[in-house]
Amino acid sequence: MIAALLGYLGYLVMATYFLYSCHLFITSRGVPKSWPLIGMTPAMLLNFHRLLDRVTEILEKSKGTFLYRGFWFTNTDFLATSDPQNFHELVNGIIPRQIEKGLIPILEHVAEQGLVVNLQELFMRQSFDLATIIVYGYNPKSLSIGFPEIQQLNYGDNREYQSFSFLKYLTREEVTNKLMRDYSANMILAFEDTNSTVLTWFFWILSKNPMAEKKIEEELTRNLLVEGGDLQILKEINKLVYLHAALCETLRFFPPVPYEFRTPTRSDTLPSGHCVNEKTRILVCTYAMGRMTSVWGEDCHEFKPERWITGEGKIKREPPSKFFAFMSGPRMCMGKDLAFTLMKATAASIILNYKLEVIPGQNVSPRPSVLLHMKHGVMARIKSRRV
Ligand code: HEM
Repeated sequence: MIAALLGYLGYLVMATYFLYSCHLFITSRGVPKSWPLIGMTPAMLLNFHRLLDRVTEILEKSKGTFLYRGFWFTNTDFLATSDPQNFHELVNGIIPRQIEKGLIPILEHVAEQGLVVNLQELFMRQSFDLATIIVYGYNPKSLSIGFPEIQQLNYGDNREYQSFSFLKYLTREEVTNKLMRDYSANMILAFEDTNSTVLTWFFWILSKNPMAEKKIEEELTRNLLVEGGDLQILKEINKLVYLHAALCETLRFFPPVPYEFRTPTRSDTLPSGHCVNEKTRILVCTYAMGRMTSVWGEDCHEFKPERWITGEGKIKREPPSKFFAFMSGPRMCMGKDLAFTLMKATAASIILNYKLEVIPGQNVSPRPSVLLHMKHGVMARIKSRRV
């Protein structure tokens, strides 16, 4: 009897030791061990039934960021992170980095060589690169010295992306994943054309309103630490009230989507007294709406960023029913905040470092289209403020 009990205890001790050894084999202080060839696969397989909780434990032990090693040569390593600082960098780091590495070198080159540049082309290329970085994680570098023609973009596993005939590519039959195709087309178009249009009109309208430009310069010098580099801009972006107001005022005059068609789902009477039904196509004239005396007052033809600033020096939020550039309702723009961040960061980096001189005597007018591009763009000379 005693011998059997001792034997049973022996098995128990051996089993406990075996389990403990397994634990030590696969983990080191709660973090999976990486073994030659197989990496951390055993630890992950053993915890497959509670993977999310296990990853949370590992991240807790690793101060929020952890490098997972998969099988050797299988390209399955990844960096797991739950660190809010990293999230911030992933989302917001892209914009200042792209400004620093893409936009500034071009402006520097144009300034040094005394060249003139088409601002519309410049901003379209900047927005296109940013959109593809955000949607595909790939930088086509269309914003490079000499404005190269991007014929074909090879991305990862040899998928091809046409850049400036992007729509042609997206509508090819081989692109079978319709959802992905529609999503990427939507994002790239929503991103590229809108931001570049506003920035082009913004710098043109600023050249006609030197007082407003001066106030922006003063605001930037007051709020931004130039010494820390332009990467500081995002930290202080909410303080740039006058710049924000000047961009709103540009959007009021030049909404990138100048009109939209809508059709009612049932018969109704509009507040103006007009009867509409399922067959009526309503043209919502956003461009005209921003220039109506009845909506914006007698001074509606003046460029006045002050109309967007409250007595307390805060941004005045106009309801979408009055300021329609981003539409309203369930189909309202999803990228409004991102758009303001990008436009403010770009405008601030340029105005802090350079003086843009629009070449006089140009015929600047909108191209008749669903998007409010300029017909020929606008040519400008760029001078460095450091000289
Ligand atoms: C100044 C910049 C921008 C303006 C003026 C603008 C304006 C608009 C407008 C008017 C619509 C409604 C279109 C319609 O219903 O037919 C829209 C939709 C949309 N926008 Fe923007 N946009 C801007 C920037 C962005 C950015 C940077 C993004 C990127 C993330 C974005 C993402 C979207 C998306 C995804 C939709 C479709 C929403 C839906 O259909 O549910 N937009 N935008």
